[in-house]
Amino acid sequence: MYKAVAFNCSPRRNGNTNLLLGKVNETLEKEGIVTETVHVGGRPVSGCRACMWCAENQVRRCVNDGDFVNAAIEKMIEADIILIGAPVYFGSLNTEAKALIDRAGYVARKNKNMFRRKVGAPVIALRRAGALPAADAIYHFFLLSEMVMTGASYWNMGFGREPGEAAGDAEGISNMVSLGENLAWLAKKLKPRG
Ligand SMILES: Cc1cc2nc3c(=O)[nH]c(=O)nc-3n(C[C@H](O)[C@H](O)[C@H](O)COP(=O)(O)O)c2cc1C
Repeated sequence: MYKAVAFNCSPRRNGNTNLLLGKVNETLEKEGIVTETVHVGGRPVSGCRACMWCAENQVRRCVNDGDFVNAAIEKMIEADIILIGAPVYFGSLNTEAKALIDRAGYVARKNKNMFRRKVGAPVIALRRAGALPAADAIYHFFLLSEMVMTGASYWNMGFGREPGEAAGDAEGISNMVSLGENLAWLAKKLKPRG
């Protein structure tokens, strides 16, 4: 069994990020992959304290147990495919997404790069501009985690302002389908299971 976990970092639970992630998940499920969406947007979260507790203790957790990040790290450890869905705020990824990648990424690096060779993809929702800086920040988290990535038929992003509007971005939606197909293909190639 292959597992995918999708983090919706938008505070709008049923917004465009969730809609786009849903399209990727629907495709993954058609490919036999079990999916889960974890809504972390809008929940209080702190940044990395740079305390090095994760490096010193080697328990695959962050010292800060007061928010969603440790639970998210556990979901990432279990998954074969990690999707980080983020809305663009002021030309880049929003706060919850940044806190998640900073802390999960640092814990992973200090714990034998525990996400090594998992498959990852960003999914970005936006109204007009800033998708690439947001996607790039997430790609950098995957790259420094020694994870493996694939593209889609075009950019992993969908346009919309009000919740649901991204459904009208036909090209964005078809990119999500091709992203799901490529992620499933890659995960199965990397870890063939009898
Ligand atoms: C604080 C804030 C800042 C935003 N900044 C941008 C921006 O710089 N570029 C852009 O294209 N959209 C921007 N948007 C619009 C959102 O990215 C857009 O509405 C997106 O669809 C939200 O995804 P969601 O429905 O999953 O929350 C901003 C929205 C908010 C609330």
